[in-house]
Amino acid sequence: MTIQKSELRKNPWVDVPCHSDVMNVLMNQHASDTYYKRGSGEATSDLNNVESIHREWVKEIIDLEQFPYCYFVNGATDAIHHWVLTEKRDWQRLEGEYEYADAIGPKSTVCCDVPGQYMNDQTGRSAIGANIDPNKPLFVSIPSAADGNYFNPQAKRELECPVILDCTYVSSTKIQKINVPKNTEQVFFSFSKGFGLVGQRLGLVYTKEPHATLHRLKEFENWNYGGVKTIELIMSNFAVDEMWNMYKEQQIKICKEYDFKPSDCFFLATTRDPYYMRRRRMRWNDTARICITSLIDEEGN
Ligand SMILES: Cc1ncc(COP(=O)(O)O)c(C=O)c1O
Repeated sequence: MTIQKSELRKNPWVDVPCHSDVMNVLMNQHASDTYYKRGSGEATSDLNNVESIHREWVKEIIDLEQFPYCYFVNGATDAIHHWVLTEKRDWQRLEGEYEYADAIGPKSTVCCDVPGQYMNDQTGRSAIGANIDPNKPLFVSIPSAADGNYFNPQAKRELECPVILDCTYVSSTKIQKINVPKNTEQVFFSFSKGFGLVGQRLGLVYTKEPHATLHRLKEFENWNYGGVKTIELIMSNFAVDEMWNMYKEQQIKICKEYDFKPSDCFFLATTRDPYYMRRRRMRWNDTARICITSLIDEEGN
């Protein structure tokens, strides 16, 4: 497929491929499967089952042992809603971070705002060595929304601040361990990205303490039962890195053709070509994030 560079430059968003193998798996599900009476315990049993499968499914990427509580949410977006709704502290983020929390609630401070402190050629990352306030919660996505890459915000020193960790891109990458900061309070997961399940609104939240809103809802079996079943179907049919494996060669080929650098997420790439300047997300870093989904053959050929 030939896509003009101008089209790639125009798109600020992340789109994801939809594979027929995923669609075929979805055909096994009926809305009637979860016609449960609330309070009967059937929905809780499904959710407990999904939780234990999910902990194993992601274990090689992130160890969730420190997070005993698990909740279903309608995508990571909903996880952000519940966090912002209940967050009373001023919060901080890194350059290029996912913008939704800022769009709906009190504004963050950007904690790496000093020119010249990064531009690390090897990592291309801006966050390393950032001036992070130890008292404010840090919202951080790993792999990062800034460029689609794994990175370690603790590369220079351990983070002391509370952390809200957004792992939305897990299932879009190879298996690589995330170094979870010690004061991480919540971890978000999504099934939108890796599997192209954007409209199904599927996510999980893990916490160390009972969640301020989700815990009460969970006691009343108040969540989307069908969504839980869909997550189970996906995890029992696909490995966490299966979509990355399916598309990684295409990603490399596309990146060669357009002179991009493949990101860890298979549908993203980066470039420092000034032509794509408007896709730069990190103010003191020349790396632009490009979504290559429009160039991907969805069937992986
Ligand atoms: C880093 C990050 N977090 C959260 C989301 C929201 O994901 P979901 O579709 O699960 O609501 C996105 C979507 O683009 C994202 O890139």
